[in-house]
Amino acid sequence: MPLTHTRDLFAKALRGKYALGAFNVNNMELLQAIIEACEEEKAPVMLQISKGARQYANPVYLKKLIEAAVSLSNVPIAVHLDHGDTYDLCKQCIDEGFTSVMIDASHEPFAKNVEITKKVVEYAHKHNCVVESELGHLVGAQFDEGEEGGAHSTSGHYTEPDEAVSFVKETGCDSLAVAIGNSHGAYKFKGTQHLDLERLKLIKKALLDAGLGDYPLVLHGASSVPKDLADEINKYGGKLGADTAGVPEADIEIARRVGCTKVNIDTDLRLAMTAAIRKVFAENPKEFDPRKFLGPARTKVKELVRHKIKDVLCCAGHAFD
Ligand code: G3H
Ligand code: 13P
Ligand code: ZN
Repeated sequence: MPLTHTRDLFAKALRGKYALGAFNVNNMELLQAIIEACEEEKAPVMLQISKGARQYANPVYLKKLIEAAVSLSNVPIAVHLDHGDTYDLCKQCIDEGFTSVMIDASHEPFAKNVEITKKVVEYAHKHNCVVESELGHLVGAQFDEGEEGGAHSTSGHYTEPDEAVSFVKETGCDSLAVAIGNSHGAYKFKGTQHLDLERLKLIKKALLDAGLGDYPLVLHGASSVPKDLADEINKYGGKLGADTAGVPEADIEIARRVGCTKVNIDTDLRLAMTAAIRKVFAENPKEFDPRKFLGPARTKVKELVRHKIKDVLCCAGHAFD
């Protein structure tokens, strides 16, 4: 089975009102864990590769690993560049056959973000690829401390609904990553901070009212940072801070219902892998066969992915719709 186009996965997800899990891939065990879970749960999946993953594993290794996954499995698989930071990187990935790329120029002023995104969109659309862009800036909510506004920052980092409409119209991007208090990593919130889901609803509505239809939104930073994983890591010698915090799964479910069609998860996979590996070494410090620690790590990531796709994203069972 060849790759499935991101465009087709999005269209089905929008129709079926489920979210696609976009899981980051850096090595073979992560890939196997994701694909095995999706295969068993009959879920479509987006594999996403960051610039750092390409530097770590080498693009050719990742491409060949994904080719193996595609040939060994039956579920629809799309391949996406996560946080492409330049036109050239996006172009390289488009030329390599990625079915979608993200151009992340969200740190730039609006006009510059439009200009860079537009350039990527023009090249991508000529080469059968679709583009995710980001508007607003994913500053961790924890960095917004001290700003006015209590639970949420009132800084200009959040996506403004009217700007989202102009941005999509001006750039022609195919999906939009929003900044609604989300952030990457294991320390997302402090105190009563949480996602601004009302803003998400307003963004979705503004796009609909502007004639852009059921426009797909993307939620970055969607790891829930489960407490049991953080506790397990620390129990076996880790030193994660007491203030780890992720997005509650109930909020991800609301985001899915409001219209986040692609939900990005990386940190939770890293935590699961780390917890399993630490456990092996804590219980058997003499172990030195990588299969004996990477195997349990793969199993733990697989169970985590299974939980996400079944219980949170609701894409399980939709592989062959
Ligand atoms: O959003 C970032 C992803 O978690 C990828 O992280 O750039 O360390 O590969 P990375
Ligand atoms: P997390 O750090 O919450 O897993 O977010 C990952 C992500 O957004 C990748 O683009
Ligand atoms: Zn991200």
